[in-house]
Amino acid sequence: MKVLVIGGAGYIGSHVVKALRSAGYAVVVFDNLSSGLRENLRADASFIHGDILIPGAVLSALYGVDAVIHLAAFKAAGESMLQPEKYAVNNIAGTINILNAMSDAGVKHLVFSSSAAVYGEPEYLPIDEDHPTRPENFYGYTKLEIEQLLAWYDTLKEIRSSSLRYFNAAGYDPEGDIRGLEQNPANLLPVIMEVAIGKRSTLSVFGDDYETPDGTGVRDYIHVTDLADAHVRALKYTVENDLSLTVNLGSEHGLSVMDVLQAARSISGREIPATISDRRPGDPARLVASAKRARVALGWVPRYSDLNTLVQTSWEAYQNG
Ligand code: UD1
Repeated sequence: MKVLVIGGAGYIGSHVVKALRSAGYAVVVFDNLSSGLRENLRADASFIHGDILIPGAVLSALYGVDAVIHLAAFKAAGESMLQPEKYAVNNIAGTINILNAMSDAGVKHLVFSSSAAVYGEPEYLPIDEDHPTRPENFYGYTKLEIEQLLAWYDTLKEIRSSSLRYFNAAGYDPEGDIRGLEQNPANLLPVIMEVAIGKRSTLSVFGDDYETPDGTGVRDYIHVTDLADAHVRALKYTVENDLSLTVNLGSEHGLSVMDVLQAARSISGREIPATISDRRPGDPARLVASAKRARVALGWVPRYSDLNTLVQTSWEAYQNG
């Protein structure tokens, strides 16, 4: 079976490509390299340098392909509030191009990178898939909009899809095969790593007065290798059952900013200076997933998402980067 991985040169995409190859799938990576990296490309997967905003490029990439995994999107929640046009065009219009090309080419199975950002401020914890979806940023809205499009394309065009609502992706390939580091990261663990290697001077902790045990924000960090494994399982589920699915992907454990910072200090042996700053607008106090549906439907069990492995694999990648 041949899979087109759109965004396969990116941080999560490169881990997904590795997992697909290990599971025996033929892989074609389609990426415009706007944030994906050439060093993430593999000799055992072919590569098309193309853009989802060009419908003909997507259509021709689908030749001989059995299924699509789509991870190509902008993902900075804060930026999406300042430049919604960029997110509307790339995330929403780009996905419409992919769906229409799939429809033209008769490709009927898709795995889509969605996000916990579709939920917005949590009304209860842990968050299951039935939690109301009221995104608080435009990025989360783009993901929700696409999920709704997918439901229509399922009904009208028989395109079956798995929407994977990632919580906080973190960590790096434990085997050290994936070397490309994200450029200009805004997420917690890569920022901490950049401080640890001296690329940034200090970590700003966005608020220490939340209603959490140590006052800092609590998130559900999920190792990227566990995410990648879920993509392979979701692809199999969608193809074999010819059914669509929406699932959370999280570890079901909350870690605070201070938990992550302290683990990074201890694993790296570096000081990692940090200062407390104001809360970041739109940041909820706590986000923790229920991943029961993924466990039951996909038989998925996270294996690398403990704090030590998240930080250790990141530290190895940044030391070698
Ligand atoms: C956000 C999005 C998520 C998206 C992800 C990818 C929401 C609610 N979440 O996650 O959907 O997929 O980005 O980019 O929109 N922190 C600091 N200092 C920093 C950076 C972060 O203290 O320099 C804190 C944050 O306040 C938060 C935690 O670390 O408590 C995690 O932040 P971050 O890694 O940016 O992820 P989210 O905002 O949770």
